[in-house]
Amino acid sequence: MNKNIPKIIIGNLKMNGSLAFFDSYLSALKDGLNNENKVNVGLCLPYPYLSQAQSILSGSKIGWGSQNIAKFENGPHTGEVSAKMLNDFGVQYVIVGHSERSTAYCESDENIAEKFNNVKKHNMTPVLCVGENLIEREAGIMEQVVAAQIEIIIKSFGTKIFENSIVAYEPIWAIGTDMAASPEQTNHMCSFIRKIINQDGLNEINNLKIVYGGSLNSKNAVQLFGLNSVDGGLIGRASLNINEFIKICELAQSFET
Ligand code: PGA
Repeated sequence: MNKNIPKIIIGNLKMNGSLAFFDSYLSALKDGLNNENKVNVGLCLPYPYLSQAQSILSGSKIGWGSQNIAKFENGPHTGEVSAKMLNDFGVQYVIVGHSERSTAYCESDENIAEKFNNVKKHNMTPVLCVGENLIEREAGIMEQVVAAQIEIIIKSFGTKIFENSIVAYEPIWAIGTDMAASPEQTNHMCSFIRKIINQDGLNEINNLKIVYGGSLNSKNAVQLFGLNSVDGGLIGRASLNINEFIKICELAQSFET
């Protein structure tokens, strides 16, 4: 089912970079991805560099975003950043529920659901990360795990909340390991995610993108982007190297969803 929609590539810079780094990185990205590039590109940086991204990338086709968001509107929440603050800096994409946060900061699925809703309420695009850990994969319960992560959002806010959203299938065992999921595993889980969100085809969800993340790089990108069920990628380490990131975006160009 090819709808001629360009793939989407999201870079997750994690806790990396500096003013000097982003100065050259963002300019090189802007120059490197010429306007004929059909791929949608978004870059999720640490909060302090959002203003820099806004000033360098404004007017280009590249979007920018954050790696987290508060579930609250404002008030006594030391260290948190609200949706309105992100709006102030023109943020388009917000990563929600990344496993590095849910594991290290004990973020619950309920919290993640509220954050997802908050991103939508403020007209930004959530990049919801879902995926199983190695024990769950070995026990063969990856579908149940991922379904539970998604169903908590559906139960609280309905399926339509997934319109204009991105869901990243990121198996935890594949993140930061050089062991990306195989095309078969990726295809199976990305199709499964679409099936549960559109309830076996009963519900048409407009502009829902399902992407893959976890050790994606320029060597395995073609295999994974070639899958019909995969609308793009969420790239961690490989996005830190500007040439590698541009290469991945270029590779994604020859594919459509
Ligand atoms: P990785 O990270 O590409 O370095 O495996 C992906 C992610 O954590 O989003």
